[in-house]
Amino acid sequence: MENLLDIRNLHVSYRGRGGDNPVVKGISFSLGRERLGIVGESGSGKSTVGRALLKLLPTAKITADRMQFGSTDLLTCREKDMLRVRGRRMSMILQDPKFSLNPVHRVGDQVAEAYRMHSDASAKAAKQRTLEMLEAVQIRDPERVFGLYPHEVSGGMGQRIMIAMMLIPEPEIIIADEPTSALDVTVRMQVLKILDELVISKGIGLIMISHDLNLVRNFCDRVLVMRSGEFVEERQARDLKNAEHPYTRGLLAAQPHIGGNRGPLPVLNRGQTNSVATTEATP
Ligand SMILES: Nc1ncnc2c1ncn2[C@@H]1O[C@H](COP(=O)(O)OP(=O)(O)OP(=O)(O)O)[C@@H](O)[C@H]1O
Ligand SMILES: [Mg+2]
Repeated sequence: MENLLDIRNLHVSYRGRGGDNPVVKGISFSLGRERLGIVGESGSGKSTVGRALLKLLPTAKITADRMQFGSTDLLTCREKDMLRVRGRRMSMILQDPKFSLNPVHRVGDQVAEAYRMHSDASAKAAKQRTLEMLEAVQIRDPERVFGLYPHEVSGGMGQRIMIAMMLIPEPEIIIADEPTSALDVTVRMQVLKILDELVISKGIGLIMISHDLNLVRNFCDRVLVMRSGEFVEERQARDLKNAEHPYTRGLLAAQPHIGGNRGPLPVLNRGQTNSVATTEATP
């Protein structure tokens, strides 16, 4: 498979008063035209990995042996060149669209602007393309939605608008950081379906960051399990149920089952023993 991304020995540390705090500790992976999931508990460093790829970490120190994106060396890429990578070739969809959309501009204008920043399209052509894109993310009345302000759209619609905005320059890679965790279940499935179809039809590489192992297992092709800044396991998604690492097994066991026996929730043991402590189930 053609590699879009090749990352070797990536380290990221945040600078703090007590010195550098390493949060990503030497991870390596590659990404083809596929759906790659990164899962792990809160604080394991998933978002930091996503942001490091886009060099969106002004206060962090990033080092690696290799950070190659197509013919672009992200390690040596200067900020001026990163501006051309971000948004146009590699986009990030964030958890909450409210923080990403500007409240004082109509949503349609913001999507159109995202397009014009990366192309020399006229205002009219950009509006046309925006309407098409809004339709592609299954917004039924694009003309009307174009003229709404961010506070006038629901969470699910806001998230679809964000996806339209990230997709309109036709990036090669999309990093989706918990893109659906603020959405209810039905809207979540719609948004995932849209992402899925776009990945397949446009041959995009997708990195899906989530703490939800079930979601990633059903949605992705391949899954990397992250713990305390390291990858502990890599599996084909369909093979995840056979995971061997105790941490992965712990994450699996911590997932809710519908209709399963309701015993006490297993407790993840983060100690050195690498084991999962389970409290005894009551009958
Ligand atoms: N800007 C920052 N400055 C200092 N430390 C940070 C910063 N951002 C994150 N961290 C720390 O880095 C570690 C990894 O954070 P990160 O946000 O990457 O985790 P995550 O796996 O995405 O978690 P979550 O599932 O909660 O989103 C955490 O301990 C966090 O407190
Ligand atoms: Mg995160």
